[in-house]
Amino acid sequence: MLTIEDILRDLERYCDFPDPENIIDDNDIITEGNYRNIISIPLRNATCCFQGEPFSVEAGASKICIVFDNLPFVIKIPLMGRHSYDYINGDTMHLRGSCYYIPESKRTSSCYYFSQTRVDSNELFSDEDWNYCDHEEYISDLAIEEGLADFFAKEECIGYINNYPIYKQEKVEVYASSNFRNKPSSKDTYSLLDDIITSGPTYLDVPFCDLDEDREWLAQALEYHGEEQFMKFLDFIERTDINDLHSGNMGYIGNRPVLLDYSGFWN
Ligand SMILES: Nc1ncnc2c1ncn2[C@@H]1O[C@H](COP(=O)(O)OP(=O)(O)OP(=O)(O)O)[C@@H](O)[C@H]1O
Ligand SMILES: [Mg+2]
Repeated sequence: MLTIEDILRDLERYCDFPDPENIIDDNDIITEGNYRNIISIPLRNATCCFQGEPFSVEAGASKICIVFDNLPFVIKIPLMGRHSYDYINGDTMHLRGSCYYIPESKRTSSCYYFSQTRVDSNELFSDEDWNYCDHEEYISDLAIEEGLADFFAKEECIGYINNYPIYKQEKVEVYASSNFRNKPSSKDTYSLLDDIITSGPTYLDVPFCDLDEDREWLAQALEYHGEEQFMKFLDFIERTDINDLHSGNMGYIGNRPVLLDYSGFWN
C-alpha cells in the first residue's frame, strides 16, 4: 500500500521544489506554465515512482493536483506564481506571480507588475496568502466547525519538502466531466432553487459562477443536503468569499455533491 510517507519521499526524490525563503528570481517560481518541468516530467520519467500507482497531473490557476486513478485522495500543491486576468488587454490570461512571499529586498522588478493576491481582499488573509491550499485547509476546518463538512472535500497539509507545503484532499469526480452532470433533479427542486437564487440578491452573484452551467449541481446539492443545510452553505460561501464556483470546481464523492476547489480566485 502506497503511504503518504512514500508519496512525500518520491516527490522529494524526483521533483525540484524551491525553498520559498530562497527564491531570487521568477524562474524559481512554480507557476502553471512551468509545473510540467518541476512536477510532471520528472515523475513521468522516474522508473518507478508512487510504487507504480497510475496518476495524472492537473493544474488550474493556483494549484497543481496529482490525481491517482485508484486511490481515494489527491495530492495538491500550491502554485507560487499564478495566472491573472488582464482586463486592460482584453480577457487574456497572463502569467504572473504573486511575489508576496519574497522578501522585499529580493523582489524582481516584475514583481511590482503582479496583481494582488488575496492579501488585500479580506481580513481572513495574511501576507502568506500566495498559498491557496493553505486557505482551502482553513475553509475545510471552518466548514467542519460549522456543521457543513459534507459540502467540501476535506483537505489537510501532509508535510513540507524543502519548506514547500504539500496537501492531501479527498478525491472528487469533477462535475464538468461527470455523468452525474446529466442526472436531473425533481421539478420541485428546480423551482425551489430558482426561488432561493432570486430571493437572495447576492447569493451566487459571483464572477466565476455560471448559473446555467452550475444549475444541475446546485439542484443536486439542494436535493441531497436538504434546504436547511443548502441555505447555510450559501451563507457560508458568501461569508468566506468562495467566488470561483465553476463546473471544474464542483463534483461528487460517491453521489454526494461537494466542492473540490474552494479557495476562491482573486485578481
Ligand atoms: N479533490 C480532487 N479530486 C479530483 N481532481 C481534483 C481534486 N482537486 C483538484 N483536482 C483537479 O485539479 C485541478 C486543479 O485543482 P483546483 O481546481 O483546486 O485548482 P485551481 O488552480 O485553484 O483551479 P482554478 O483554475 O479553478 O482556479 C482541478 O480542476 C481538477 O481537475
Ligand atoms: Mg479549480
